[in-house]
Amino acid sequence: MITKINALKEEINALRATTTEEVEQLRIKYLSKKGLVSSLFNDFRNVPVEQKREIGQLLNDLKNIATDKINSLKEGLAGQADAKAAEIDLTRTETPLPLGSRHPISLVKNEMIDIFSRMGFTIAEGPEIEDDWHVFSSLNFAADHPARDMQDTFFIMRNPADVLLRTHTSSVQTRVMEKTQPPIRIICPGRVYRNEAISARAHCFFHQVEGLYIDKNVSFADLKQALLYFARQMFGPETKIRLRPSYFPFTEPSAEMDISCNLCGGKGCSFCKNTGWVEILGCGMVDPNVLEACGIDSKEYTGYAFGMGIERITNLKYSVKDLRMFSENDVRFLHLFDAAH
Ligand code: DAH
Repeated sequence: MITKINALKEEINALRATTTEEVEQLRIKYLSKKGLVSSLFNDFRNVPVEQKREIGQLLNDLKNIATDKINSLKEGLAGQADAKAAEIDLTRTETPLPLGSRHPISLVKNEMIDIFSRMGFTIAEGPEIEDDWHVFSSLNFAADHPARDMQDTFFIMRNPADVLLRTHTSSVQTRVMEKTQPPIRIICPGRVYRNEAISARAHCFFHQVEGLYIDKNVSFADLKQALLYFARQMFGPETKIRLRPSYFPFTEPSAEMDISCNLCGGKGCSFCKNTGWVEILGCGMVDPNVLEACGIDSKEYTGYAFGMGIERITNLKYSVKDLRMFSENDVRFLHLFDAAH
C-alpha cells in the first residue's frame, strides 16, 4: 500500500498539461469518485488497524498533493491566456495608416486663433459661395466703384443675381453684423478666391483672417494696440509695427500695416527689398456706411476691422518662397512641419 501511494505521488508530481481540457481529464483520472486516489481510499478499509494511522496520513497527503497539482496546472494555463491577451494591442488599426502632419496653413491659422482668442475674439465663419451684397455692396463698393477692379472675381452666375466665390473674408463681417448687435468681437478665418494666374507669388485661392471689433467708443488706438500685440505674439517681442495710410472702401480711415522684417531683423534683405519692413495686413475704422448697411447705428457705435493673408504670415514665419507649395501637398514639404506642433 505504501509503495502504491508513493508511486502515485511521484506520478502526480510529474503531471503536465497544455490545455484546460487536459487538466480536466487529469482531474477525472486522479480525483473523481472512481479516480486513482479515491480507489486507494477504498483499499484503506483493508489496512490492518495498527497501520491505519500512518497510511491514513499518507493518503490524506496524497489527496492534498493531487488537488494542489491540478489547481496549479489550471492557474498556470489561465495565466498564460492572460499574458497572451495583454500582448494584443486592441487600439491598433487592422491596416496601419502612415502618420501625417498638420498643414502649415492650419498651424498658423490655429496660432492666430489662439492669439486673438486671448484678446476676447471669437470665431465666425461664412460661406465661400457668396452674393454681391455680402462681398461688395454692403461693404461700400459702389456699383461702378473702381475698387471692384482691385479684386478679380470668379462669378458663378451673373443674372438675375450675382453668385460668386468670395474674394475676401470681409463678407463674414456683414453676415455677423446683420444678425448681431454690438458688442461684436470676431475673427473670421477662411478660404478666398481670385481670378489670378498661378505663380510663385499669386494663386487663385488662398486664406485670410478677418477681424472685427464694434462697440461704443472703439478708437484707432485700440486697433493699433491689438495689432501690436498680435505682431509681437506671432513674430517675437522685438517686432516693430508701422501703419501707412491706405484705401479700402469699407474703412475710413484705412491703413496698411508693416512689421519689421523678421528674416533680417529690419536690417534689409531681399525679402523686404532692403527696406527692413514687410506689409502684412490692411485695416481701418469701419466706415459708417457699412455699419448702417448692416443695421447698426453709426452714431452710437464705432469699430475697427483688419484683414490679412495666412499664406503671407506663414511665408514670413517659415520662409516659404513659392506659394504653390501650399496647395501641391508634396509630403516632403509637409513633413518639414512635423516638429512644429
Ligand atoms: N479685405 C481686404 C483684402 O482682401 C483686407 C482688409 C483690409 C480687410 C482692410 C479689412 C480691412 O477688414 O479693414 O485685401
